[in-house]
Amino acid sequence: MTQKPWDGRFSQSTDKMVERFTSSIDVDKVLYNCDIDGSIAHLKMMAHQSIITHDEADTLLKGLEKVRAKIASGEFEYSDALEDIHMHIEKALGDEIGTVAKKLHTARSRNDQIALDVRIYLKAETQALMNALLNLQKVIVQTAQKYIDVVMPGYTHLQRAQPVLFSHHLMAYYEMFKRDYERFEDSLKRTDVMPLGSAALAGTTYPLNRELTRELLGFAKVSDNSMDSVSDRDFVMEFISDATICMIHFSRFSEELVLWSSSEFAFITISDAFTTGSSIMPQKKNPDVAELVRGKTGRVVGNLMAILTLMKSLPLAYNRDMQEDKEPLFDTVNTLKACIDIYAKMLPNIEINSETMLNAAQKGYLNATDLADYLVVKGMPFREAHSVSGKAVAFALNGGRCASGKCVHADENDKRVNRSDNNSSQFCKSDKNICKSKELNELSLDELKNFSDLIEEDIFDFLSIEKMISRRITHGSTSYVNVKKAVEQAAERLKI
Ligand code: ARG
Repeated sequence: MTQKPWDGRFSQSTDKMVERFTSSIDVDKVLYNCDIDGSIAHLKMMAHQSIITHDEADTLLKGLEKVRAKIASGEFEYSDALEDIHMHIEKALGDEIGTVAKKLHTARSRNDQIALDVRIYLKAETQALMNALLNLQKVIVQTAQKYIDVVMPGYTHLQRAQPVLFSHHLMAYYEMFKRDYERFEDSLKRTDVMPLGSAALAGTTYPLNRELTRELLGFAKVSDNSMDSVSDRDFVMEFISDATICMIHFSRFSEELVLWSSSEFAFITISDAFTTGSSIMPQKKNPDVAELVRGKTGRVVGNLMAILTLMKSLPLAYNRDMQEDKEPLFDTVNTLKACIDIYAKMLPNIEINSETMLNAAQKGYLNATDLADYLVVKGMPFREAHSVSGKAVAFALNGGRCASGKCVHADENDKRVNRSDNNSSQFCKSDKNICKSKELNELSLDELKNFSDLIEEDIFDFLSIEKMISRRITHGSTSYVNVKKAVEQAAERLKI
């Protein structure tokens, strides 16, 4: 029978099923380094404060390092009877150095110990995630540099809207991941708080020097309220919230990669190394990485729900419910890290099909807003110009006839035959070519003039893709000049 720290009070030993049920060692064993680091700072502080002797501190320290080495070697034996990582280390320390080990738990509870361990863990992991996010931002900026002038259709409602630079589209993700970085940086301030010395909940009667413990562990500040210190998991909720937002960005990016790599779009080709095939359909090449990242977003959203629901309604101070915070936290850290890293590796393995993107940007009246803008430049109010351009679109869609005009190529029942293809064309059954819809810039000047006398020969140049892009020079717009500047600034920030 394993001895329990609370044996004094109990006359019965713990039921085996209860031991299994309450054990968290499978999950929290990853915290062993954090736990040992915390204990070392605690014993040094206690020696400094003469709560234990320097000799005792020395023995404890050497013993803890031996336990650390044993756990690291993989030879350590875990048991449900010892519940969690704290009790495993405490027991192993006793086995190493004998009764002095029992002094380590002076002025400390597992409640402030676990709060400390999780904070040590999360500080390091947040920093690592931030570094990984910086690396991903670098890859995004490098990809934007590589394809700086490639034009693609910009979408709203997933309908072609206006031409944009592919690099501009990509830099939208740079902005998102930059905000994610800033969110983590900000949350780090609230994680970087040292709770040890709060003991179980009320603080302690020993003359601790919490400032020294803080300094030894490299925390920014000590916590100010012992009850809050042991019951606060805001920093966990905040971290998972930030991670969830970051995953949502990945999910949106993934959705686009999945769409763009389909034959319907054919905007990108993901290299073989970052796709997988089908076990039955030989032709298939699937964007599984993007799909899985999109799928893993669900897990992280679930983790956020789990931690929020876990904390809701918990009275002060520590409650055992809080042991359940680790699985969602660790899973979030690991999932997000894996997604950031695989994206940073996958992006350079995506080929951009710039021809297809450009062609798509030239079909579907993406210049209709610019026709309206042209009329505005010539003095027409925008709402009127919008309507004029709309009428021109309807005319062009109709193959260069007024929408009401009877089609000479109607079938025997005088019905037009509508059919959509990628170009949103309408066809007469009798002659596809004659009745094929046109783009605005394919109409003749005379045809365009029917909609407004203000339209002159210069309209064709005005509606060219290059001019449409170049004119969008307001801060944050897609012009070549703006995007180049944005990419340069990002490269400078990231020291590329
Ligand atoms: N394993 C516990 C946790 O993760 C450590 C604290 C246990 N405290 C207690 N009073 N049982 O929350």
